Amino acid sequence: MLSPLSTRREVVKSFLWATALSVVGQKVLSQSVTGHIHPAGPVYKGLLKLKIADFPVLGAANGSLRLGSSAIGSDKNPVGIYPPVIINRGAGNSFFAVDARCPHAGCVVGTYKSTVSCMTCPCHSSKFKLDGTYINGPANISLIRFPVSQDQLGFITIEIEEMSVNVTIKPLSGNPRHPFKLTFLAFENITYEVRFRAFNSQTSRVVPFALTSDSPSQQSSLLLTTTPNDDTSLFIDPPTENGLIQVAIQMRTV
Ligand code: FES
Repeated sequence: MLSPLSTRREVVKSFLWATALSVVGQKVLSQSVTGHIHPAGPVYKGLLKLKIADFPVLGAANGSLRLGSSAIGSDKNPVGIYPPVIINRGAGNSFFAVDARCPHAGCVVGTYKSTVSCMTCPCHSSKFKLDGTYINGPANISLIRFPVSQDQLGFITIEIEEMSVNVTIKPLSGNPRHPFKLTFLAFENITYEVRFRAFNSQTSRVVPFALTSDSPSQQSSLLLTTTPNDDTSLFIDPPTENGLIQVAIQMRTV
């Protein structure tokens, strides 16, 4: 957390390792479901944080939810680079999170159905238990499990290592419109936004950005239809002198 008395220099230093945040894009979920994606030690890890109460389907055992950063194509594969995630509630207060891509050929597995006591792949019918364990079908192995932790405030946090975004920030001295430039590798079919909070205790909010250093901040999100060859740059003017800026990936139910 940054002190409000931090100097601009300290803020910039913090920006360098506060890299990204993912949110669920649907309106009803937008403020309550956040997934921090930030460095945790030498390896970058994506941390998806959900408030359980915001998802009624997770309110009881066998509840199942699938979130993704991009749509699922007609071939049943994810359209974007990141895997959809299935979150299941087990007995009591246990939760499981799995990579929804089927180990057989990558189709996106459906959510858990109590009626058949499994998750089923729509392509060749491989079946998996609530915790992702393989039951039968051509997949032959279990779904990848992501570590899940819970806190006393009713949140679960899921570690998704490959959903990390490495953002660098550079001060633009002499540019009164945009004092900072964010640079990161953006992928097609992923919706990015920039979020800001002045204090760690606050909820990050979306802030506008510009695509060039001399244009006004009028963009609220970025969605590329092709993955560029070079890094993508966004130009920002944070609302306050100090705080935490993050590049966010929108998540939604898929
Ligand atoms: S892709 Fe899932 S069973 Fe073939």
